[in-house]
Amino acid sequence: MEQQTSQERKKVIFSAIQPSGTITLGNYFGALKNWVQLQDEFNCVFALADLHTITVRQEPAKFRSNIYEAYALLLACGIDVEKSAFFIQSHVSAHSQLAWVLNCYTQFGELSRMTQFKDKSAKHSDNVNAGLFTYPSLMAADILLYQADMVPVGADQKQHLELTRNIAERFNGIYGNVFKAPEPYIPKVGARIMSLQDPTKKMSKSDENANSYIAVLDKPEVIMKKFKRAITDSEAKVRFGEGKDGINNLMGIYSSVTGKTMQEIEAEFDGKGYGDFKIAVGEAVVEHLRPIQERFNIYINDKAYLKECYQKSAEFAERIAQRTLDKVMKKIGFVARS
Ligand code: TRP
Repeated sequence: MEQQTSQERKKVIFSAIQPSGTITLGNYFGALKNWVQLQDEFNCVFALADLHTITVRQEPAKFRSNIYEAYALLLACGIDVEKSAFFIQSHVSAHSQLAWVLNCYTQFGELSRMTQFKDKSAKHSDNVNAGLFTYPSLMAADILLYQADMVPVGADQKQHLELTRNIAERFNGIYGNVFKAPEPYIPKVGARIMSLQDPTKKMSKSDENANSYIAVLDKPEVIMKKFKRAITDSEAKVRFGEGKDGINNLMGIYSSVTGKTMQEIEAEFDGKGYGDFKIAVGEAVVEHLRPIQERFNIYINDKAYLKECYQKSAEFAERIAQRTLDKVMKKIGFVARS
């Protein structure tokens, strides 16, 4: 990360994504593309939240390859370790350490009210582990270690960010100013990408129906096939409007990749059918993803380069994180080893 003078200190942004398999077009337009753009304006600290991922049982070989894949893909999308830190959460032990401490300043009742915990424990009823329950205090540790000013999060993580603020303020209330209470960062633009099969639901990699999402690494023919099968409506007119969730979503995707407005899209497809429109959307997405996929193929086959990037970022992150952790330990009354 760049040096800067104190009078023009850039705000710190922290965000993380789990390496839990497929990264979708929804993740890309909802989060990653914004991260890439934030890198010039802010001091960005990004992580792969691998510790969060084991709250759901993982097969070791698959988990490891998912971590490499997610790391390489984010680099391919434009995360640049010359501008930002981009590390793997488990490489910076302060995350686990602060999470334990924060667990002792987080109430059982608060964690019980987290809707994600309720949803996930219903979904994985055979493995309602304590990590699933305390997931938000690890997330709070991630954010608070870097004294982040802002955290770009989707709607599903808002409640966790709110809890992070509460934990920070509670801790500061006892020990003085230790943590910065982070604000949510709401991106200026960014379409909410919905499922291609049920456009009232968010596009999600955990959907059982693979036709409902586009993975950033899907092959061109797969992308085309999925768009051709996308749910539309019976009006057969490319127009943005109520009751046209499927078409609205496809228009949103087309707009995200081409930069065209809804009116421009309506004009472009005036008099044309959904078949033509779906092909155009598919082709635009394929072209948009092509350079990302090409870069991904280079990075994923260069483990030495990946290692260089994540090690360098972890070293940088560790220095900041350790400073915060040391302060926390001292405030609480622990005896320092050195
Ligand atoms: N829980 C987030 C998710 O699943 C990932 C995450 C972990 C995160 N730590 C974070 C996001 C800190 C923002 C800030 O999407």
